[in-house]
Amino acid sequence: MAITPPENRLWWNEPIERIEIAWIVVAFLWGLFMFFFMIAWHFIGNQNLSTETYKITPAVFEEKVVEFADKYTVGEEAGVPLVRPPAGEDVYLLARLWEWWPVLELKKGQSYRFHLSSADWQHGFSLQPVNINVSVHPGYEQIVTITPTEAGEFGIACNEYCGIGHHMMTGRIRVVE
Ligand code: CUA
Repeated sequence: MAITPPENRLWWNEPIERIEIAWIVVAFLWGLFMFFFMIAWHFIGNQNLSTETYKITPAVFEEKVVEFADKYTVGEEAGVPLVRPPAGEDVYLLARLWEWWPVLELKKGQSYRFHLSSADWQHGFSLQPVNINVSVHPGYEQIVTITPTEAGEFGIACNEYCGIGHHMMTGRIRVVE
């Protein structure tokens, strides 16, 4: 029983068994493999993108997003502006409790510089189903280059817990030919 002292009081001083050392070696090698694969995946996986990060206040970022949306809005979807920026343009996307704003329409095969930031708390930009992930923080503007390689509907799910509406915090990006 755990509450009684061990029979052999020097249990930690026994020689290590072969099977135990084998498992330690396996776990250590697997850890090394995973560590280096994490770095390799940055290059071959196209999921953990290189980001540029700048300091910005939430108010200034919001102004930029609104300016961007006003310039290129072509419609509305469920009360959110549908924004169609020209190919290659800078794209601004705001995370806030509890939505991604606005809805975007992009062209397949074109590269866009995404500017991401939050108006309030930490949120997660998880682009589905391609599984690109960027952590989004208030006070920081993160820039990633995204080139859609297929047309269709893409969803953005917030994957950083941000309160009572977290599970409903989604956004949409449409990619057209
Ligand atoms: Cu935003 Cu969770």
